[in-house]
Amino acid sequence: MIRKCLFPAAGYGTRFLPATKSMPKEMMPIVNKPLIEYGVEEALEAGLSQICIVTGRGKRALADHFDTNYELEHQIAGSSKEAMLNDIRHLISSCTFSYIRQQEMKGLGHAILTGEPLIGDEAFAVVLADDLCINTDDGVLSQMVKLYRQFRCSIVAIQEVPANETHKYGVIEGEMIKDDIFRIKSMVEKPAPEDAPSNMAIIGRYILTPDIFDIIRNTEPGKGGEIQLTDALLQQAKDGCVLAYKFRGKRFDCGSVDGYIEATNYCYENLYSP
Ligand code: G1P
Repeated sequence: MIRKCLFPAAGYGTRFLPATKSMPKEMMPIVNKPLIEYGVEEALEAGLSQICIVTGRGKRALADHFDTNYELEHQIAGSSKEAMLNDIRHLISSCTFSYIRQQEMKGLGHAILTGEPLIGDEAFAVVLADDLCINTDDGVLSQMVKLYRQFRCSIVAIQEVPANETHKYGVIEGEMIKDDIFRIKSMVEKPAPEDAPSNMAIIGRYILTPDIFDIIRNTEPGKGGEIQLTDALLQQAKDGCVLAYKFRGKRFDCGSVDGYIEATNYCYENLYSP
């Protein structure tokens, strides 16, 4: 049973400067809701109510967002504006939130290892909040949790991307087990198109078994001199089994300006009701 979802959220969000100079990139709104709130909603929908956030300097707004704001709530009590807090109030009352600070940015693998004291010895999910996933049926994490119940191993979400975009992602080589499920044979972090083993790219949704922590501890810095989760997962795949799952649903890369605008337009047209 998976109960915990880890959100690595210590990064600087340099692609959105100056907006992210003093505001966490995870608080950038898609219409009127911050990115991380969509991620927490997806986690809760999948039954994961223990939210573990890896934060860093300048990220206090995240903890404030998932807390009561007495002054504001007192001010708008009884007014029509109160309904605008329904969704966040529901999250706050349904989830627990715990935080740990990452002191140095040494890559996604390092961020996940920083979360170990919050996770302990159990399987958990990871959401990178700047990958926004929208579904009309089961969310991506729900789909992955169901798969985990069946296979009991680490799972990464994948999507096909154009060949000239492989340098933005971890890219896998897999052997198809059945429709949309692959057993990972190899994976490379951000390869040039000519070095990419396929066009199947990892997106920011993972289920990880807790042995990943020891593997990360023994993983040398890789691409960009950072401790890469992709390298640790490759080791896990060699030792046992890691699956890649081609999920159902839409995904927007909100870490890029183009993807952010696309997500905003999509959510405004399809999800927003004033
Ligand atoms: C990270 C991972 C990469 C993955 C991507 C998904 O990269 O290192 O393997 O494909 O997230 O968004 P980042 O985008 O944080 O540089």
